[in-house]
Amino acid sequence: MSWSRGGWRSRKSSQIPDYPNPPALREAEDRLKTYPPLVFAGEIRQLKSELARVADGGGFLLQGGDCAETFADFNTFNIRDTFRVLLQMALILTFVGEKPVVRVGRVAGQFAKPRSNPTEKTPEGEIPSYRGDMINRREPAGRTPDPERMIRAYFQSAATLNLLRAFAGGGYADIHKASKWLLDFVGKSPVREKYEALARGIDKTIGVMRAYESLEGGALPAHPQRIDFYSSHEALFLPYEEALCRNDSLTGDPVAGSAHFLWLGERTRDPEGPHTEFLRGVVNPIGIKCGPGAEPREIERLLEKLNPDNEKGRITLILRAGVGKAELAYSRLIREIVSAGREVVWCIDPMHGNPRLHSSGVKTRYFTDILYECKIFIEVCRAEKVHPGGLHLEMTGKNVSECLGGFDSVDDLSRDYETTCDPRLNASQALELAFAVAECLAADRG
Ligand code: PEP
Ligand code: CO
Repeated sequence: MSWSRGGWRSRKSSQIPDYPNPPALREAEDRLKTYPPLVFAGEIRQLKSELARVADGGGFLLQGGDCAETFADFNTFNIRDTFRVLLQMALILTFVGEKPVVRVGRVAGQFAKPRSNPTEKTPEGEIPSYRGDMINRREPAGRTPDPERMIRAYFQSAATLNLLRAFAGGGYADIHKASKWLLDFVGKSPVREKYEALARGIDKTIGVMRAYESLEGGALPAHPQRIDFYSSHEALFLPYEEALCRNDSLTGDPVAGSAHFLWLGERTRDPEGPHTEFLRGVVNPIGIKCGPGAEPREIERLLEKLNPDNEKGRITLILRAGVGKAELAYSRLIREIVSAGREVVWCIDPMHGNPRLHSSGVKTRYFTDILYECKIFIEVCRAEKVHPGGLHLEMTGKNVSECLGGFDSVDDLSRDYETTCDPRLNASQALELAFAVAECLAADRG
């Protein structure tokens, strides 16, 4: 079936709003088409081969970041702190779980949000829903889609990636600094103590290895200064995705240049919809969110469209049913996809199936639900003999109080509730979860 970059335009989606001034949107898209891509084909090929190894059971995918990036929260410290927690989590998963970890941020492009309703009721009347900073403003007066916001999201993504590339390539991520990655606010907590003990153990192991190497007179390998870090977001706003689509200079294949990894959300994974149509033509690794109602037959249809050759590393199924429905939904889905012979990475998103409305009226999630769904996922994978290959989280490096519970026991949501979208794990909760999941994975093997 032939494919073109703009082929998605003949299919409708309620997730892509109409713009009041279509020529202005076209003009902004034309400008974006001339700008450099944010990611490159060689990096995308490398991520795909790392995910192929995960699909084979030889690694683990860690994907995390904000529910939605915003223009207001764009600053060096936020980027650094989220990056640092992801590094710490990866370290925990590598050393406790004993698997190499593929690190992917929900970052540098996660600006467009799906909506269950196109409008929202306010005391002043019904207004269009907020769809993420790439499209409109959160303030009720700013809900008209504005194409210049797409350009601003591009430049913010470019600056964010620039910093992340420097951190990943310039020594900040060096494992020798593991003990220096401690976050200031993680006071004397059991999580901090566990992390310190792990970092000391790693320092010691490296010291022993170096001593052996010098005893043997072998050349000491260079310090592992560089790590790989990849970007990802939901490929929701297709005018942006199309404008950043490029061709691989080696193979000529179409590549989404907006991020290394793109996913179809629970509301954008219609096999006949525009999002699937666009993604089937680009070579990037693709995620598919699978909620409690994800029918195996429907997911199979998506796999036929998105990965007709059953290429390993191309598809990650991101399960997000919620604790109540997880066990049944996951065993049924895994069984059918496996019996169809499909190669996928199995990943758990324990956030989106577990929303709770707090008595104060804000959205929250319980740490216990999040951890419990991870455990159900690992157990079902074990029972079905597939590799529990990944963890997809909404988290931040800041000490926010958006999810309830954890060792440090967040019980007051009003202390520091900042998210403009879904509640995120704070740094301490994210590390605690990484330890618990890593221990479960290790037990899985032993
Ligand atoms: C998200 O990841 O922020 C999201 C909206 O997820 P889902 O599509 O699974 O609801
Ligand atoms: Co979310």
